[in-house]
Amino acid sequence: MAKVKTKWVCQNCGYETPKYIGKCPDCGNWGTLVEEIEVKAVPSHSQSVVIDDSPVCLINEIEITESIKNSTGFEELDRVLGGGLVKGSLVLLAGDPGIGKSTLVLQTAGNVCASGKKLLYVCAEESGSQVKLRAQRLNVNSDKLFVYSQTNIEAVLNQLETLNPEILVIDSIQSVYTSNITSTAGSVSQIRECTNILMDVAKNKGITVVVIGHVTKDGNIAGPKVLEHMVDTVIYFEGDKYKSQRLLRSMKNRFGSTNEIGVFNMVESGLEEVTNPSELFMKERTESAMPGSVIIAANEGTRALLVEVQALVGKTSYPSPRRVSTGLEYNRLLQIIAVLEKRIGLQLSSHDVYVNVIGGIEIDEPAADLGIALAIATCFRDVVVPSDCVIIGEISLSGEIRNVSDIEKRIYEAQKLGFKKAIVPKLNKKISDNFDIDIVEVARLIDAIKVCVSKGN
Ligand SMILES: Nc1ncnc2c1ncn2[C@@H]1O[C@H](COP(=O)(O)OP(=O)(O)OP(=O)(O)O)[C@@H](O)[C@H]1O
Ligand SMILES: [Mg+2]
Ligand SMILES: [Zn+2]
Repeated sequence: MAKVKTKWVCQNCGYETPKYIGKCPDCGNWGTLVEEIEVKAVPSHSQSVVIDDSPVCLINEIEITESIKNSTGFEELDRVLGGGLVKGSLVLLAGDPGIGKSTLVLQTAGNVCASGKKLLYVCAEESGSQVKLRAQRLNVNSDKLFVYSQTNIEAVLNQLETLNPEILVIDSIQSVYTSNITSTAGSVSQIRECTNILMDVAKNKGITVVVIGHVTKDGNIAGPKVLEHMVDTVIYFEGDKYKSQRLLRSMKNRFGSTNEIGVFNMVESGLEEVTNPSELFMKERTESAMPGSVIIAANEGTRALLVEVQALVGKTSYPSPRRVSTGLEYNRLLQIIAVLEKRIGLQLSSHDVYVNVIGGIEIDEPAADLGIALAIATCFRDVVVPSDCVIIGEISLSGEIRNVSDIEKRIYEAQKLGFKKAIVPKLNKKISDNFDIDIVEVARLIDAIKVCVSKGN
């Protein structure tokens, strides 16, 4: 017996209620509840069966089955995924409209098909010929790559039976629907139900499923938050639409670390990997040093990245001075400013301070503190940090410079890019002699400022 019922579902958070209410009690948004009709088979009590196909085991008796990881052909993507696409996993790739999600997935599809895997690409938003046009531009061609323009998920399941691919791509989750429920494609119930079905495909058939998802204006994946909980891996593809650089960042990964990033460049023929991002970030830099500009060595996952930090300090015309940060945490900036005022005596309370991390990178590690402080201090005093000098170190509230992790890796990256000098925290161990770079150890913020500023150019 099938029972028809309607319910009101919040399109923002997935909250469900049988009656209409104006404000969602869960997320507090107004007018987000939409009526959805649901048809669900209700099993009668006499029919319900207990499924018990996985036995209870002792932890030391469980055999480890190594997860199979397939390379995507992009080192940058593999690293973010934690080594490659894991067989039987569900990956969600999210990003702003037009950022290049379909491009990335199609190029990846070309790569995995070239390695002999069969892949079904479901384009629910575009026609087959649109995909073909893009494939031509990207030079993607394979007799293992099947394209299916379809929005009904049951039809896709049928094709899976006949084709039996190793990888399934759904472009996008917001435009497919299941006939099990009658609400429109893109509604919370549809997204949730379709993801459930795809999860089942991944886990029971061992097919790797890659799902593309759009993000809303406020940067969240459109659909319920639960979507992120359901899938194995969530990757964001981001970047400035007016620039060619694109960043891949993983928000959740059941198979690897989440602090890796991947860097790509969007060109006419598609996405190109940027295997040495520091070089790219340095390229925009002017040759001669500028007041307020310093280079820091940040750690992103397994590699060090050299990034430029710029500060602008000027007399304020506001009742309270402005503090604006792009690419770093606002409170971190306030703290650094407070230390500069108290320990160094910079009169910043009458000045606006703007700090910018160049290249769209988000710096959230304290190792960038010293660089940020020096950017502000040099701009304030109108002096420069030499352009071949890299700055590394965390600042404590007392104005001391604290040590940071992976210092050698950071110095090595700077040396590789031709930097001649590194200002680092006082090291408590001897570092390798192999460095051909002048390493200056500083114990306090004031010492670092003396090194850079008074001896400045
Ligand atoms: N002929 C072209 N030459 C160069 N770049 C192009 C060309 N056509 C498209 N692009 C680039 O590809 C981007 C669109 O890529 P793609 O369709 O993969 O994005 P998407 O994230 O899948 O978008 P949507 O949200 O519409 O599905 C454009 O913003 C543009 O940067
Ligand atoms: Mg697309
Ligand atoms: Zn809600």
